[in-house]
Amino acid sequence: MLLEKLRLLKEDLLVSTLTIKTPEVFKPLFEPNLRYIGIWGGRGSGKSHHLAERAIDEMIGDPKTRIVAIREVQKSLRESAYRLLCDKIEDLGVGNQFRILNDRIETYAGGSITFMGMQDHTAESIKSMENIRIVWCEESQTLSRKSLELLRPTIRAKGSQLWFGWNPRSASDPVDKLFRGANTPDNCAVVQVNYNDNPWFPKELDAERLFDKKNYPDRYHHVWCGGYEPQAKGAIFNMANIHENRVIEPPTMGRILVSVDPAISNTENSDEHGIVVGGLGEDQKGYVLDDVSLKGSPQQWAERAIAAFDKWDADSIVVERNQGGDMVRHTLKTIRPNINIIDVVATRGKHVRAEPISALYAMNQISHYGSFPDLEAQMCRMTAQGFEGDGSPDRVDAMVWLFSKLFPSIITKSKPRTSNRQPSSWMS
Ligand SMILES: Nc1ncnc2c1ncn2[C@@H]1O[C@H](COP(=O)(O)OP(=O)(O)OP(=O)(O)O)[C@@H](O)[C@H]1O
Ligand SMILES: [Mg+2]
Repeated sequence: MLLEKLRLLKEDLLVSTLTIKTPEVFKPLFEPNLRYIGIWGGRGSGKSHHLAERAIDEMIGDPKTRIVAIREVQKSLRESAYRLLCDKIEDLGVGNQFRILNDRIETYAGGSITFMGMQDHTAESIKSMENIRIVWCEESQTLSRKSLELLRPTIRAKGSQLWFGWNPRSASDPVDKLFRGANTPDNCAVVQVNYNDNPWFPKELDAERLFDKKNYPDRYHHVWCGGYEPQAKGAIFNMANIHENRVIEPPTMGRILVSVDPAISNTENSDEHGIVVGGLGEDQKGYVLDDVSLKGSPQQWAERAIAAFDKWDADSIVVERNQGGDMVRHTLKTIRPNINIIDVVATRGKHVRAEPISALYAMNQISHYGSFPDLEAQMCRMTAQGFEGDGSPDRVDAMVWLFSKLFPSIITKSKPRTSNRQPSSWMS
């Protein structure tokens, strides 16, 4: 059922009405005197559209309203809600009430919608937001604790509100903790929405949904139904830890390596070639900088790896040579004869090799520069018994080799296991 919201518009001396149809699921968000509005759920549930319509409705209701649309990181206006708002203004036929500028939207009475990334602001500069009435935060699952702590007391104008839309990743994400944790603020309304609450859910998106349901059943619940990111029982890497250590800017880097775990064959069903870039920061911590894994021919993975090598100005390429022997080295040397190659030979299973690296993560010694959803999903399905996902964990394997070379002492400390050992001795 759709709620209909009518708003009288004064266009010159003529009076007309603006009608915004709103899905019933959003009804709790219209309670009076709310300070916080939260909408969480899977892809395509109408979160962004609802908040965009709401922003326009607020500006028409009080043309002096100042709104800031924020994200944790906004490298360009393209990543903001700017385009969506421009389209909405046109679709709702209220273009005559707004002035669309290159980087902001204004009303003729001094109201505005501006766009910014929290990472570009310091505790000092955020004070300029004190007389903002509405902060709308998109993709709030990536909002850092620092940003949330800065925003809440800064937004203090009379009747001010903070709106958050997010696709949940982990219960440890600050926005999830605040609105779905044990102690939620009193004056907040939070709703869950999914694709089936969206009467305008496009058929193109529904085809994507059905494809994921069939091909990625373990990710489906997270992507489309608002579930947390999947984590295998007993996984040796932990999504909350990855999120907590994630960085937006890495420090100055020392040694940088590109690590490749080539797949055996090149057919439609063969595994990916894991290609991960990482390095040691000047703070002596490890950083995953890039994941450029792909399916394809040896020529293709080698070209991709060398492009990553150049992009990151890396020192060496680490390649596992179990599968292709000298071919692997030869493939790289054909493209770049003088490239520095470190070959590694696997004598232990992937999950056994991964354990010392998972210990480094647990000690907060490794950070991801940005997000690597495919690598991270594989990591969280790696258990002490093996990989509990589809196919082979090639991205994890490349990442594990990388940090095995960057942190050689942690590997030598963990003795190899021999095949005649009994499981009971593994505990020591
Ligand atoms: N109020 C609306 N009017 C018209 N179309 C809508 C409306 N709400 C949603 N849609 C349609 O549904 C699609 C998904 O909506 P929207 O982008 O708001 O979802 P979302 O929950 O923000 O998704 P994501 O998690 O991918 O950001 C839109 O691209 C649009 O086609
Ligand atoms: Mg959205």
